[in-house]
Amino acid sequence: MHRAAYAACGIDATYEAFDVPPTELGAAIERARSDGTRQLAVSIPHKQTVMAYLDEIDPTAQQIGAVNTVTLQDGRLIGANTDWIGAIRALERECELNGKRAVVLGAGGTARAVTFGLLRRGASVCVLNRTAEKAHTLAEDLGASASGALSDIDAHDFDVLVNTTSVGLQSDASPIDASAHRTGSVVLDAVYDPEKTLFLRDAEAASAKTVGGKWMLVLQAAEQFRIWTHENAPVDAMAEAFDQAGR
Ligand code: ATR
Repeated sequence: MHRAAYAACGIDATYEAFDVPPTELGAAIERARSDGTRQLAVSIPHKQTVMAYLDEIDPTAQQIGAVNTVTLQDGRLIGANTDWIGAIRALERECELNGKRAVVLGAGGTARAVTFGLLRRGASVCVLNRTAEKAHTLAEDLGASASGALSDIDAHDFDVLVNTTSVGLQSDASPIDASAHRTGSVVLDAVYDPEKTLFLRDAEAASAKTVGGKWMLVLQAAEQFRIWTHENAPVDAMAEAFDQAGR
């Protein structure tokens, strides 16, 4: 996606993928610092641990508690988070979020980013997680109005529903029963592979409007591009690159 964006904008840069084991993260960051790498995208499982190796974390990433974007500025590594804006812009493809009632499924790093974004846009948020205790902690940390167990979803009304659990990634499963979906709601799955998860198929069958995780991924990368180049991202070229990537 990034290479496609550079090509579309005539930017002479490349984007390389490095598989870094957790024990080598510090060394990888120091290598990037010394070899002239200007920007880093950080993915699973390093989004929290990378924070210890940076010189500065912007306030939003600090509040979310995770960094997925690192920029070298005047010799200092600065951490930011674009996952939240990717999720929010993906949802905003289908609806305005201000005043909406949202339910976020999961309580990991992705749930923190999505909850932060929904609250910032003026939605009310209920966080539901398999381990309810983690949902309570997340809700308290970020100021979400409600939290509980995943199994209690029927007790919560919503206009917007986001799956941030990893259910659907490894197998054709959904974190909730099909009957929990609501007609007319807007439903986003953070899982992007496969593109049509069971969670999204169930939502569609219930006449909800669905947004694939592809858009969350593409739009968080588009925001990285904007931070790094100060230019608007060529989103269509990036989405096309996603479609063409072999997965
Ligand atoms: P990420 O940083 O991508 O959010 P994570 O921190 O590993 O990933 O969080 C994974 C989320 O998926 C958690 O909310 C987890 O629930 P628990 O806190 O109860 O572990 C949720 N999850 C994983 N497998 C699940 C399953 N089989 N059913 C329901 N929730 C599941």
